[in-house]
Amino acid sequence: MKNIISANQFKKSEIEKILSSAVLMEKAYKKNKIKPILKDKIVACIFFEPSTRTRLSFETAALKLGAKVISAENALENSSAHKGETIEDTTKILCSYADVVVIRHPIAGTLDKAAKVATKPLINAGDGANQHPTQGFLDLYTIKKEHGRLNNLNIGFGGDLLNSRTLKSLVPFLRLYSGNKFYFISPKQLELPREFIKDLKENEIAFEELRSLDEKLGELDVLYMTRVQKERFANEKEYNKAKDLFIFKKEHLKKLKKNAIIMHPLPKINEIEREVDADPRAAYFRQAQNGLYVRMALLCYSLGL
Ligand code: CP
Repeated sequence: MKNIISANQFKKSEIEKILSSAVLMEKAYKKNKIKPILKDKIVACIFFEPSTRTRLSFETAALKLGAKVISAENALENSSAHKGETIEDTTKILCSYADVVVIRHPIAGTLDKAAKVATKPLINAGDGANQHPTQGFLDLYTIKKEHGRLNNLNIGFGGDLLNSRTLKSLVPFLRLYSGNKFYFISPKQLELPREFIKDLKENEIAFEELRSLDEKLGELDVLYMTRVQKERFANEKEYNKAKDLFIFKKEHLKKLKKNAIIMHPLPKINEIEREVDADPRAAYFRQAQNGLYVRMALLCYSLGL
């Protein structure tokens, strides 16, 4: 049994195995030759926060591999959490029904609590502004597929870095590869937490913090835009002040390298102009598709298959 709670738990060798497994999953999917490796297994997907990609790609991945799926969406309202049941009790029950349990929750650290009582593999599908490790894996897979390597890259993260759990899962993966440099581009009020920066400094990871999208655009191999996360703001007024500070516009495309890619975990709201979608460097829809192959690999990994 292998839980997937945080990107920080993985060694490079394990990451490489999972990425290789995802490559095989993608090949089998495209040839319509997926083996029903998870026949007789039940995957539970319990989402206490909204999701389109993560929940539905996990459910599709499970179904494609022959598993059956039980799920609760809007679980803060529609599960017994609404009546006050603790995450520990809910997890114990889910583990008595399913073979793998996938949970998304708005509160950071909830999956750590759940993992203390889980008797089946537990997968973190996002916990507050903390971690989204399966997104980190699909992002890594996308970068490798698009650039052919995971080292010697200039990677810029733009937007709401304070609340981005996808950044906090992708950076720990990418820092395992040599020669990568990070550019964290955000307004002051949405900058990365200082403890994250302190950790990068202590570990001599190459990075710069910038306040303008334009500054180093021409040097980037990857621009990873993030949504300003309305649900993490104290109130609508604060959100409105921040929401349109960073927008990647069609005119920015001229500054980007020919082989750079623009990534985004999605959903995107205002942070990328719609006209950018048609540019071949806009990789975000390909990125979301990769999530299916990667989550097929991760379900197998969690079950030791
Ligand atoms: N990227 C991501 O987590 O998307 P969803 O919120 O739609 O699952």
